[in-house]
Amino acid sequence: MSATSVLARKWRPKTFAQLAGQEHVVQALSNALAQNRLHHAYLFTGTRGVGKTTIARIFAKSLNCASGVTATPCGTCGACTEIDSGRFVDLIELDAASNTQVDNMRELLESALYAPTSGRFKVYIIDEVHMLSKSAFNAMLKTLEEPPAHVKFVLATTDPQKIPVTVLSRCLQFNLKQLPPALIVARLQYVLEQEGIPFEAGALALLARAAQGSMRDALSLLDQAIAYSGSRVDEAVVRNMLGAIDRGYLYDLLHALQARDGAEMLRVADDMALRSLAFEPALQDLAALLHRVALVQTVPQAIAEDEPERDRLLGLAQQFDAEEVQLCYQIAVHGRNEIDLAPDEYAGFTMALLRMLAFMPAGARTAAKAGAPAAPAEHAKPAQAEAQPAATVSSASLDWGALLGQLNVQGSARELARHCTLESFADGRLALNLAPQQKLMLSNKAAQEKLQAALTEYFTRPVRLVVTLAAAGIATPAAAEQQEKQARQQQAVAAIRQDPFVRDAQAQLGAQVIEDSIKPV
Ligand SMILES: Nc1ncnc2c1ncn2[C@@H]1O[C@H](COP(=O)(O)OP(=O)(O)O)[C@@H](O)[C@H]1O
Ligand SMILES: [Mg+2]
Ligand SMILES: [Zn+2]
Repeated sequence: MSATSVLARKWRPKTFAQLAGQEHVVQALSNALAQNRLHHAYLFTGTRGVGKTTIARIFAKSLNCASGVTATPCGTCGACTEIDSGRFVDLIELDAASNTQVDNMRELLESALYAPTSGRFKVYIIDEVHMLSKSAFNAMLKTLEEPPAHVKFVLATTDPQKIPVTVLSRCLQFNLKQLPPALIVARLQYVLEQEGIPFEAGALALLARAAQGSMRDALSLLDQAIAYSGSRVDEAVVRNMLGAIDRGYLYDLLHALQARDGAEMLRVADDMALRSLAFEPALQDLAALLHRVALVQTVPQAIAEDEPERDRLLGLAQQFDAEEVQLCYQIAVHGRNEIDLAPDEYAGFTMALLRMLAFMPAGARTAAKAGAPAAPAEHAKPAQAEAQPAATVSSASLDWGALLGQLNVQGSARELARHCTLESFADGRLALNLAPQQKLMLSNKAAQEKLQAALTEYFTRPVRLVVTLAAAGIATPAAAEQQEKQARQQQAVAAIRQDPFVRDAQAQLGAQVIEDSIKPV
């Protein structure tokens, strides 16, 4: 989705009062500002487009407004107007997602030692802070440990799990919520009224639902809807537009499948997740699309001349064999049936895609062949196809741990699987690497047979299992569990350190936290 939504930028709230939702954060910040009880570092967490950057900038105005530290900055003084237009010298914003700036971290923080040029405080807003490198975090930690009185940090992230506990424990954390549809509808309505653009209420409801809690996404979709239907927002047009956006992803997936490009398929799926598309309906739409492709392959005239997706459908019909379409259709339908059993919808969806990939005949078809009209002779698969490189699912694209969660295996077969990583999966041959410490399991043929049977059942195709001993330490699901346990312990320690009671006890009584005594709940 476009990051440069015109409406989102134009209608970014400039005061706490203009914000939709997030009352819990606004209330706490307003109280702190009114009573001048300020922390030196804040962390805003939450999914994209819910107001993290917006609140951070309003907060920066609150700290630097010429009328004094206040929850209601004037909006007209030099500091307020300069912050609104992004020109305030004492507001330093950096996006950790772009690397060059991260390299400058140390230098930037050295500047924190100097007094602000024109404001009361130097405010550092660091967006997507979880992307910082280890050395950048360390540089920041130094400043966080002994912050100059004139410095405030506002960190923002969509992924707080990735922030070191040493940093977490020095921040006051606020979790921003996804915005409920009613608030999004109200905001869209307000923006449209201000812009003098006519709309149908049903259209706003559709946009709000598609935005899945993100105000930025809602406004960006509104941009597109206005462009799509020419300066008005109609329900029918919006419905059409959202459908076309969703199907665009499905076409991308099928093209990646045709190219045997598993990484690209997963990238598209991740895009869909970012857009908060629901995966269960997506599998249904994928099956519907494949059904249309099959129809077009059989009866090319079946497709109307004025069908907007005509070219794309004809393209797919030529690129895939009829059997391939049948197989993918089956896998999509099957995947939808069992999506409730998957660890989550994303896992269910991507597993279906990877099944398609794993069972595609070897090698993408050549352009020449794809360009030719479908003729019966083409469908008689020559043996030459076998000689081409196989469609391979590498360990990078298939999540063995997630798959294992869905396999119907117990006992020694499950133990075996837990201590393996996936080497490759191609043409029904699934190769595993066994962790060297578990060497003895190699001789347990019964376990291997059970695992092979479970895989065959899972993929509804014969799977041949090959287990080999890995040379060095490998990242098995068992090892991941162990690591996760340790991470949870670290989080528990951080939570205790942040606990106000514990902090008071430490400050006033000189109490010490015995970290080994902390157990995650
Ligand atoms: N709570 C909100 N109320 C009103 N508009 C919002 C809110 N959250 C986000 N927006 C809109 O979305 C845009 C992006 O919001 P931003 O604060 O940058 O999101 P993020 O949480 O990703 O930092 C803003 O310019 C604004 O138009
Ligand atoms: Mg932001
Ligand atoms: Zn002001």
